This record gives sequence, C-alpha cells and structure tokens, in this order.
Amino acid sequence: MAPRTRRPSGCFLASSPALHLFFLLLLGLQRPASASSHDYHDALRKSILFFEGQRSGKLPPDQRLKWRHDSALKDGASAGVDLTGGYYDAGDNVKFGFPMAFTTTLLSWSIIDFGKNMGSELNNAIKAVKWATDYLLKATSVPDTVFVQVGDAFSDHNCWERPEDMDTLRTVYKVDRAHPGSDVAGETAAALAAASIVFRSCDPAYSSLLLDRAVKVFEFADKYRGAYSNSLRSAVCPFYCDVNGYQDELLWGAAWLHKASRKREYREYILRNEEVLGAGDTINEFGWDNKHAGINVLISKEVLMGKADYLKSFQLNADRFICSLLPGVSHPQIQYSPGGLIFKAGGSNMQHVTSLSFLLLAYSNYLSHANKAVPCGGPSATADHLRNLAKRQVDYILGDNPLRMSYMVGYGPRYPQRIHHRASSLPSVRAHPARIGCKAGSRYFLSPNPNPNVLVGAVVGGPNSSDAFPDSRPFFQESEPTTYINAPLVGLLAYFSAHT
Ligand SMILES: *[C@@H]1O[C@H](CO)[C@@H](O)[C@H](O)[C@H]1NC(C)=O
Repeated sequence: MAPRTRRPSGCFLASSPALHLFFLLLLGLQRPASASSHDYHDALRKSILFFEGQRSGKLPPDQRLKWRHDSALKDGASAGVDLTGGYYDAGDNVKFGFPMAFTTTLLSWSIIDFGKNMGSELNNAIKAVKWATDYLLKATSVPDTVFVQVGDAFSDHNCWERPEDMDTLRTVYKVDRAHPGSDVAGETAAALAAASIVFRSCDPAYSSLLLDRAVKVFEFADKYRGAYSNSLRSAVCPFYCDVNGYQDELLWGAAWLHKASRKREYREYILRNEEVLGAGDTINEFGWDNKHAGINVLISKEVLMGKADYLKSFQLNADRFICSLLPGVSHPQIQYSPGGLIFKAGGSNMQHVTSLSFLLLAYSNYLSHANKAVPCGGPSATADHLRNLAKRQVDYILGDNPLRMSYMVGYGPRYPQRIHHRASSLPSVRAHPARIGCKAGSRYFLSPNPNPNVLVGAVVGGPNSSDAFPDSRPFFQESEPTTYINAPLVGLLAYFSAHT
C-alpha cells in the first residue's frame, strides 16, 4: 500500500500526472471535431503564460518563460523602499501602478467567476495574481501613501532596451495626503480586495492581509480626494492619464470591498454615493481608466441573485450598458469592424474587445442563474445572445477573421511576428550576453525580421477598423501587447474551454 501523502497546503497544489491525464481526456472528449473550433484550453494556458514574460524583479526557479531574466532589482531604492517585482505594463519597461492594479482586479475577477473552469491552469492563474499582489503590498506598505510608478516614462521610451540591461531613470512616484490620487488608490484597493477573494480558501492568512490593506488604502483614497494626474502631471500623462476622473474608482473600490468583506459600511457607501459619484455616467466603456460598466455589472450579480433589491438601479444601468453593445438593437452605441470586431478609436483596441466581452459573459451568467433577459427596446437580449457575442469576439481574436490570423502570439498557424515589445524583439540575455545600450537597440526595433523571442500568449492591440493589421513594430497601437488586454481574456478562455 502506498504511504499516504499529506496534501500540500497553500494555493499551488502540485498537479499529479494522473490529474493531467484526466484533464486531457476530459478535453479530448469535450472538443468537437469541427475544423472551426478552437483549442480554448491551449489559448487559456498561453494567455496566462504571457504574464511571466511581463515579470519584473527576481524571477523564481519555476519561471517557465526561460528567455527572460532578473531585472530592475534596485527598484524603489532611490526612495528607500523595496519596490522590486510586479509587471511591466506592455512593450516597455515602466511599472505603471494604475493599469497594473486594474490588471490585478480583472485577473482576480476572471478567477472568481471562471476559476472553476480552469482545470489544471488554475494554479498558474493564481500565481499570476500573486506576482501582482506581492508587489501591490510593497507599494502600499507606508500608511496614507501609494507608490504608483517606477520608471521615468520619457527616459524609458527614448530607449529600446531589454529590461535586463535597463539603465534608464527608475524614478519612484507616489501619491500621499498632500498629493492625492483617489483613482490609482481606489483601483489598488479594488485589486487587493478582489485578490483577497481569490486566496480566501487556499491561503486565509494572505487573504486577510490583502483585505486589511485594501481597507486602509480605500480609506486613504476616499479621505484625500483628487486625481493622480493633477498630482503627478507629466510623470503619468499622457501615458496613463486619468481622463475620466477618480469618482468611478471610489465606487469600484467600495464595490469590491463590499463583495470581499460583506461589511455594512461599504453597502452604505455605495448607496450614499451612487448619485454623487455618477454610477450611471459614461457607461459604454470599461478599461483601466473607466470603471462604470464594471461597477454596474459587478453589483448587478447580487441584485439578480435576489440578494440586494436596494441596488436595483445598478442593474438598470447594467442593462442599459448591455443594450449599448448589441448590434441590431434600437440604440447601439458601439462600432463593429466589417469583420465583426468591437472597435473603439484611440489605439490598443483589443483592450476594449476583451474587457467588454468579459462583462457580456459575466452578465450572461448572472442572467441565466436568475432566468432573466435584458429588455433592449425591441426583442430582449437573452443570456445566450450575450454569450454568443462574447464568443464571437474571442473567436475573432483566435483567428476567425478576414485575415485568418490569430492575434495571440504563439497560438494557431499565423500570428503577429513583430510585436512592439522590447524584451521579445531584442536577442535574449542567453543568446547575447553582452549589454545592448539604449540606442544600440534601435536596429532591432527597425528590423523587418520576426522577433527572436516568442512572447507566447501575448495579445496585441489588433487590427484597425477595416480589419487590417500591419504586423510592424513601429505601429504600436496595433502591435503592442498589454497586461490589461489579457487579464479579462483569461476568464473568457476559461469559460469557453469548459463549454464548447
Ligand atoms: C487600415 O489599414 C489598411 C492597411 O494599412 C489601410 O489601407 C486602411 O485605410 C486602414 N483603415 C482605416 C480605417 O484606417
């Protein structure tokens, strides 16, 4: 008889070969033989792997993306704090706290709603969250202060350098009582609160640490009000300038704290501030700057579950948002490309595609549990409608589009080869150990050759409004991947991998 082994504690259970085989068999049985069907589980695995390519700091022994190495090991030193770790936001080497926090919130939401569909990938998804939350805990370790950025974006963008070689200015930026930033602090509180739910059962101590910190950061965000763009100006603008105001992040932070803590004070905060903070404003967007649609969809879950009738107005807002996305209803407010992709002007369009599709799918699930549909003036939109629309967007990303190419690097037979990404486009440290200086990298930037390091799972900004894609590094709006494109996609792919 085999000796009984204790189950390892913590979130990262070692998956046994038998379990792997089980999942493979399960997938094999589930996947229909039709040619147009996608391997959503493969895409899910890759979408999570991408986050390893964005890691900053000292890389752990289980790092799977081997061409990246340690970088930015002195981040924070100039301010006397340890700010190593976290994620580079996109194809550059700056750590921008505002989109990093949003990425963390959405990765957590992906796991909260769809973790049960992730199978063997759940561990990796949780690790991707922890890489961010370990950093966010460092960034919020000083009371009434949030360190919101490491790296001077102008200095960084002036160079085409590997993160491992970086010699650009690693200036540390913070918000505090005298220089408030309710937007970035509110989003950071949301991220910590959402992640506390992810760790609740597998690591209760870490989960409480996250929740306690979320409470303190939210207090700071609410008490010292202001937009971080006004406090930090050219350090954060035009990069991640808060154009939309900080009011939405306060409601968003409160909504996540309400969900994570079930404390009456957050429910009361939401009710008291719903009008003042404009819950129903500019609702047909969802991204690192604008949380309105997300707030309403998140809160609607409870209304649709029959647990919070007093929050009914949020469900009406969410219904209105859903109607604004549907093609062929009386008041569509969103553009679709001729090939069927959601399109919003302003660059990095895929961020809108994945975040809006995530809300469609999440809402579809809440509706089907409640056996409800959305009245959109004409025929009502059913849960199936919303799910099909989200699936159509995911399938477009994976290759069902006029160019027949996948916009996820490393997925399918054709995918972007020249993504706007420093680490991916320069030779790896292993292939080329000697330093490559700031301007010496330009020849790799301008080269017509494919990137030498395949950043598996990266989803790029995507085609223009006519479904055309240049696959060229200088076209950063089309060819740059970002963490906040992938974060909601993780949830979408998890769902479709389990429901094909
Ligand atoms: C999209 O890109 C293609 C190819 O570069 C170009 O011909 C087309 O005009 C662009 N469409 C728009 C709307 O910019």
